[in-house]
Order: sequence, then structure tokens, then C-alpha cells
Amino acid sequence: MDFKLSIANEIIAAAERALGGAGLQSAEIAAALEIPPNTEMGDYAFPCFKLSKALRKPPMMISDALAAEIHADYLSRVESVKGYLNFFIDRATYAEKVVEAVLDQGESYGSDNSGAGKTVVLDYSSINIAKRFHIGHLSTTMIGNALYKLYKFFGWNAVGVNHLGDWGTQFGKMIAAYKRWGDHDTVAAGGVDEMVKLYVRFNAEAKENEALNDEGRAWFKKIEDGDPEALEIFNWFKSVTLKDAERVYDILGVKFDSYAGESFYNDKMQPIIDDLRAKNLLKEDQGAQIVDLEPYGMPPALILRSDGATLYITRDLAAAKYRQDTYHFDKSLYVVAYQQDLHFRQLFKVLELMGYDWYKNCEHVAFGMVSFESQTLSTREGRVVYLEDLLYTAISKARRIIEEKSPELENKNAVARQVGVGAVVFFVLYNNRIKDIDFYWDRALNFDGETGPYVMYTHARCCSVLRKAGECDAKPDFTALADPEAQDVVRLLEQFPEVLRAALQKNEPSMVTRFS
Ligand code: ARG
Repeated sequence: MDFKLSIANEIIAAAERALGGAGLQSAEIAAALEIPPNTEMGDYAFPCFKLSKALRKPPMMISDALAAEIHADYLSRVESVKGYLNFFIDRATYAEKVVEAVLDQGESYGSDNSGAGKTVVLDYSSINIAKRFHIGHLSTTMIGNALYKLYKFFGWNAVGVNHLGDWGTQFGKMIAAYKRWGDHDTVAAGGVDEMVKLYVRFNAEAKENEALNDEGRAWFKKIEDGDPEALEIFNWFKSVTLKDAERVYDILGVKFDSYAGESFYNDKMQPIIDDLRAKNLLKEDQGAQIVDLEPYGMPPALILRSDGATLYITRDLAAAKYRQDTYHFDKSLYVVAYQQDLHFRQLFKVLELMGYDWYKNCEHVAFGMVSFESQTLSTREGRVVYLEDLLYTAISKARRIIEEKSPELENKNAVARQVGVGAVVFFVLYNNRIKDIDFYWDRALNFDGETGPYVMYTHARCCSVLRKAGECDAKPDFTALADPEAQDVVRLLEQFPEVLRAALQKNEPSMVTRFS
């Protein structure tokens, strides 16, 4: 039962009877119902000034008249206080209705299936080839994954895309380095770390030997021209990187429906460039082709460099169009750090200028930076925390805590894995996503407070209550849930669907993690 809607209907009926009200809309009234800061003021409160205009009466007069007029068996009391109507729901009825709804709807409790027939494309994680997965990728990966699940829960068809960073001149340099100093077995065994070593050596030696850069450029050109050897090596680099990343995704339980990355759009940019030109949007600027965005207060979008090379945004334009043509999305979300804010504003503006009305359905879901125990991370200065190391450290720390607290536990390794990984995941989903986060071990792994381990502990306790409840077949007595503590829990259950809807609407998983 939807209490807000029922109360709204009582208000409307009473207003008609007592005050000759007409044309009031239940959805609007329901939306204006507030949850008072403390339960002494009732379960719901309605500010009657919202009706003053329609009923042409002062709020206090309205609240007095309606309080006297409203009677329903699920309401124990209705009070008029300074222009507010305070509704007190009968404790046992309240518990009964909420608990029945939860039991009835089971796993789908909280979903209104409002996404049925709609498609959302989510671009998240989007790692770069030949780079190791570090803590900086944790937010995009986990926020994206959480939203993916949330949309699915509401009945959306969700498409998870890992827009791989697999294109750029650096890959030419990597092949050149590999041809000079690398060998298959070392890279196959060492994975991304070996590729990074080759790349670092290349850059160091290129400082002394300018010819190396020409070599790198030549290999890059070969990749672009589809030279079989260049492609074979490059695709192999790609699969080695993905194999490394896959291990991390497995630990985190993250999946994608598509790995179409930047290079996927190699042959899909020309139509975009032609279209931009046909629509008179391209301008020449020192040999380069740009879209002027000055009227919109933004620097120009660089579409083609003077040597004809395409750029990050050129690929994103092709990707956006491809996603629209392929998935016919109702929403297209980019879960990417806020540093790329300008890029996405430019991207969406160019789509708009191209006349693609669906640009309105594209959204940059931005998030803040991650630092580690007060240290900003910088690959260049060697301060990096690799995700895989972080997760394994979390698991072994959790293992040690379990050893201390519950040495007799049976499946310690499995539990340590759940608790350790869960602690990290919960930590990155806990803050409002736009906030920067500072990762601290003792905060993430704390067994008290609003942490992953605490939530998991509570979940385990709930499961044990449910197991015990399963053994008893007495008829439920809902008057037993009339005390304030039980009512607090009932209220949380009742509010849960609304919190999920708000999280979905704002693309903000932290509303779910923080809900309490
Ligand atoms: N690979 C990029 C990076 O690491 C993120 C890509 C985000 N997605 C996109 N469609 N631009 O910065």
C-alpha cells in the first residue's frame, strides 16, 4: 500500500466534502507530503499553504477543517498544527502493510519497473591498453557497475561499455620498443608490467636518439594502415592487458557487454567528419579542423590535427552516434572523472550543433579524485597504487582481523575475500560521487560505523534472524512491531523504494550505500 497516495486521496476527498475543493491532483498532493524530522510530529505531514490558492483560504483554516474531516482505519490520529496536517499511521497496520509488501515483492521490492522497454548505455571503467589498472579506475568501475545494476533493477535494458583507450601514437612506440628489445615470452609472462618497462625504456632512449621517435611514428602509421604484423603485435598487447584487467574485474564482479574502444571507431569517423563539413561546422585553424565553440563559452573542439590525425573527441563523436544507431538508447551515461568535464560539454554541444536531438539524453556522470592515505597519486612520480595489489592487501588484512576476532570461523578465506573486497567497494561508493575521496585502510576496514564490513555483518545477522523465523510457523502478530525501535526499521523498509528511485534519478549510488 502506498501511504502517501492513500493519504493524498483522503485529503482530496475531505477537501471536497468540507471546503468544496475541486480539481486537486492526487500525485501532486502525494509529492507534497513530507516526512517530519521526528515521529512525534507524525509519519507524514502536509503543508496546507500548498492548498491556499486552490481553496482560497488561509492554511490554518484548511488544516483545522481537514483534520476534523479525515478518518481512515489505518490512521490512528490526524492533527492540525500551525497550518500543517500531521498524520499518524496506526502502528500495527503500518508494520503489516510494509512487511506484507516486502514479502510479496521479494527480490523486486523497491523496483517499479519504470525502465521497461527503455535502454541505457553506460560507459564505465574504460581502461587504457598497456597501462596497469590502478586505484584511479576504481570509482568509474564501481560507480558504473552500481548504476548498471540499479538500472537493470528498474527494468531498463542496460548496455555496459568499456570504451578502451586502445588508440594513440604511444602504441607505435611500444611496438618499436618491443621489436628492438622485447621478446614474446617475457611479455607473455610479465603482462602489462613488461609492456610498461619497454615503453619507459623507449622514452628514455629516445631522448638521446631522435631516430627512435621516427621508428615509433612509422609503426603507428603501420597500425593505422592495417599492416598485418603491426596489428598482430598490437592486438596481442591488447589481449595481454585485458587478461590482466579481467582478473581484477573477476574479483570485483564487474562485467561488460561491449569492449568497443577507441580503435573500434577507426572506420566510423569519416562519415562524422563529412557530416560536420556538410553542416558547415568545420573551420580551418592553422591547418587543423575545428568546431568553433566560442559562442558557447568553450574552447574549440579539435576534430582533425593538421597532419590529418583524429582526436579523442572525434572518436567520441563517432562512438556516441554508433551507440545511438546500434542501441537506440533513451539514456547514454559517461561515468568519467570530473577532469573531463570540458570534454563532455564540448562533445554534447557538437552533437547538438549537428542536429542530433538525442544529445539531450547524454550525460556525464562525473566523480571526484581518489587519493591514498593523504597522498595524491601520480604515475609519473611513481606514486601509484595498483588495484590488484590493493584488493589482495584488503583480503589479507581482513583475513588477519578474522583470525583475531573469530578464529573458529569455518571458511575463513572465502569470508576474508568477501569482507576485504566488499570493504573497498563500499568505501568508494559511500561518498557523494562528486567528492574527492581519500582512501584509508583503517576507515575502509573498520568493523563499526558505516562501512562495508559493518553492513555485511548486519546482513549476516539479518539472515540468521530469517533462518530462525523460517523454523516457526505462528501467525504474525503485527502489534508486536509497535515499539519505536521496530517502527524505525519498518520506516526504513518503507522508504527504501523512494531512495532507490532518487538514486536512479540522480545517478548517485551513494544514496543507497548511505541509506540508514
Ligand atoms: N580512457 C579514458 C581515460 O582513461 C576514459 C574514457 C571515457 N569514455 C569516453 N567515451 N571518453 O581517461
